[in-house]
Amino acid sequence: MSEPMITELSDYAEKLIRGRHATRAFRPEPVPEDTLRAIFSLAGAAPSNSNAQPWRIEVASGAKRDRLARALQAAHAERHLSVDFPYSEDMYTTLHQDRRAAFGAELYGALGIGFEDHAARAAYDAESLGFYGAPHAAFLFVTGDGGPRLAADVGAYMQTLLLAMTAYGVASCPQGLLSFYADTVRDELGVDEGKLLVGISFGYADESAPVNRITTERAALEETTAFHG
Ligand SMILES: Cc1cc2nc3c(=O)[nH]c(=O)nc-3n(C[C@H](O)[C@H](O)[C@H](O)COP(=O)(O)O)c2cc1C
Repeated sequence: MSEPMITELSDYAEKLIRGRHATRAFRPEPVPEDTLRAIFSLAGAAPSNSNAQPWRIEVASGAKRDRLARALQAAHAERHLSVDFPYSEDMYTTLHQDRRAAFGAELYGALGIGFEDHAARAAYDAESLGFYGAPHAAFLFVTGDGGPRLAADVGAYMQTLLLAMTAYGVASCPQGLLSFYADTVRDELGVDEGKLLVGISFGYADESAPVNRITTERAALEETTAFHG
């Protein structure tokens, strides 16, 4: 590859990677089917250990999406949780917690919800199970034994998918919360293989929504990365 092309590609990469943001308000119109197929074909180019591709993706749209949103909200109201990948606040360090708090302040600030207003935050969580109004939701299942190594491969798939969506002008929000109702997703979509890692709501962004204008910081390079040698 010649020098100018590399420069051009890095410019695109900067734009693509930094241009992706979690979107939490969508317009209702669906993504055309050929665009959907192009995005998910591109995402399939993600790397995985020995190219095993241990993922299974289920995409809900239209009436299926509406039914699933209602079922998720009902499961949430009944506290009918079913989690394939255990979750605990203890998995985070104090530094992680500080970063999460800074993000929460940004998000709830944009929504006009006080950080200590637990009732309003819970109501927002319940509402978010309606995919933030997105016309589509993708569910990423880890096949095989569903262990951490295979889950890491599906994590690589997730980011590839989010970037593919960005490239096609499609906005997204990965939602760990959707994975707390794995049995509901399985029942509604008739899935009988894999562990549910994450759901991704996607469609076209509602640019007028203040929640879509929040910015998130990242740690400085030196904080996360060491160059040896
Ligand atoms: C695995 C994963 C799970 C997430 N779960 C949620 C979620 O349940 N609800 C939500 O609103 N955002 C969720 N997010 C979005 C993150 O809050 C967001 O990626 C992060 O704050 C950085 O912001 P950015 O994506 O706009 O750069 C999740 C992101 C990832 C990667």
